[in-house]
Amino acid sequence: MILAANFKTNHTRKSTLEYLETLDGFSNTCSEDSFYIFPPATALESSSAHITIGAQNAYPIESGSCTGEIGVAQLNEFSIKTVLIGHSERRHVLGESLDLIKKKYDFFKEQGFTIFFCIGEPLEVKEQGVDAVMAYIADQIEGIDLSYENLIVAYEPVWAIGTGKSATNEDIAQIHSKIKKICDKPLLYGGSVKEANFKDIVAIDGVDGVLVGTASWDVADYISMIKSAK
Ligand code: PGA
Repeated sequence: MILAANFKTNHTRKSTLEYLETLDGFSNTCSEDSFYIFPPATALESSSAHITIGAQNAYPIESGSCTGEIGVAQLNEFSIKTVLIGHSERRHVLGESLDLIKKKYDFFKEQGFTIFFCIGEPLEVKEQGVDAVMAYIADQIEGIDLSYENLIVAYEPVWAIGTGKSATNEDIAQIHSKIKKICDKPLLYGGSVKEANFKDIVAIDGVDGVLVGTASWDVADYISMIKSAK
């Protein structure tokens, strides 16, 4: 199972290091799982044997003039080769266009990065039914090379992210099976995954893991959630 934790704008460098130390002790007892942590840019670290560190965002440049962004040179300092692209907060809050997302995708693919590519529909699209959802997703993956060997896809309905309201198991099963037909890559679910629904969600056919925000920020709670499915 792939267990990815997105810290968003939470944790400092100090608290991230403490978190990683605690998680490391647990993750090395879970040989069948892959752990990924996406800390904020100020808390980037090198990966350990059991935990891969990824960047929540990076600009598609080696280095240069792009105020407020980080590029490959900054990631190289920590040997980071994993990046999140297309997260709904980057798309909808920071206004990243399909075009910029594709540029990032192509650039980091060229660099051989493992790419966590996030897709998912807003509420008004979900309310129009499953065909509308799949049409929306088709737009998000237009021009994206889905055959890329280091691709991990995360289906994260926008209306479920950070709201406490997860998609139903039926919704997840249905959309995952449709995405799997167009993209045969590891497929994560994200959006209000928490201890109360974790075990059921990871048991759904076509769910290869989870991308967790809020419920990952406290390491003891995160470990307890993962243990609940063991
Ligand atoms: P959430 O966030 O678990 O807080 O809903 C998930 C995500 O944004 O990846």
